[in-house]
Amino acid sequence: MITIVGAGRIGSTVAANIIPKELDDILLIDIIQGLPQGEALDLGHMAASFGVDVSLRGTNDYKDMEGSDLVIVTGGLPRKPGMTRLDLLQKNSQIIGDIALKIKEHAPKSLVLMVTNPLDVMTYVALKKTGFDKNRVFGMSGQLDSCRFRYFIAQTMKVPVSAVHAIVIGEHGESMLPLPQYSTVNGKPLTKLMSKEEITKLIEGTRKTAADVIALKGGTVYAPGNAVGSMVEAIIKNKHEQMPLSAYQNGEYDVNGFYIGVPAVLGRNGVEKIVKLDLDEEQKAVFQKGADSIKNAISEIGLA
Ligand code: NAI
Repeated sequence: MITIVGAGRIGSTVAANIIPKELDDILLIDIIQGLPQGEALDLGHMAASFGVDVSLRGTNDYKDMEGSDLVIVTGGLPRKPGMTRLDLLQKNSQIIGDIALKIKEHAPKSLVLMVTNPLDVMTYVALKKTGFDKNRVFGMSGQLDSCRFRYFIAQTMKVPVSAVHAIVIGEHGESMLPLPQYSTVNGKPLTKLMSKEEITKLIEGTRKTAADVIALKGGTVYAPGNAVGSMVEAIIKNKHEQMPLSAYQNGEYDVNGFYIGVPAVLGRNGVEKIVKLDLDEEQKAVFQKGADSIKNAISEIGLA
């Protein structure tokens, strides 16, 4: 069973994304009475319209997550216009601490896929509170940020998005790190196709585009839902797929003891391997700035 904690915008969109993939039955949990039940009913009708046999259930009781193989955590507050992800730190660390204890109690064998922001810090909170193995707790960040970079590359170069491969690592925040030398158009690295100034523009656009969506329509929904869906598929189908995600660091990128976005191999047992890419000096500095920001936030909530 796949459990989604938080039946708000992202939680329900993740369910809508994975239903047609017919991966497993889905449980939605929320603290709001009626919301997960209503979403489950509506989504159940959608499953019927696809003709797929996925059972959907909504509940306010964490006990119902017993037997979950995977718990996706989207519960907590989202950003409002003008906020950074780190502005959610204090409130969401409380909420995620509570949710993680429930997961530990009721789904002790599950993998935990974190979505709530500030993502890298909340993934660390979940690790500490569940006490699970590090490979079983990880977060969604780079899958989404990379799609945004991919979108901007395709738009700017006027090529089909299918011709573009893009990768973003680092903090899921102000210091996210798009990697142009590993991002390609029809196999050619971006660094051979565009000037440094043009690339810088794309990188800046990628960093700030979520804030633009939030300012325009109140929140991001479809792209994050789809990014989580692709991770769920890699896990349940045991695809051993390489993708950027927030993984626990053991010094691979000169960072130790907490989470940040890196390329990693994902399968049924969670994070199988972190993949090392060479970064230039400027990129190393941005990666480190993001790591410092995550580390400071962990200290601020007293979990260092
Ligand atoms: P939302 O407000 O639509 O939904 C959040 C839901 O969590 C609400 O229904 C709320 O009742 C529920 N909730 C709060 N405390 C809970 C608890 N203790 N147990 C169960 N449910 C609880 O927010 P939305 O837009 O779905 O965003 C959710 C989170 O995802 C936010 O923190 C947002 O910043 C983050 N996010 C992360 C992304 C990423 O790339 N990692 C991308 C987009 C959003």
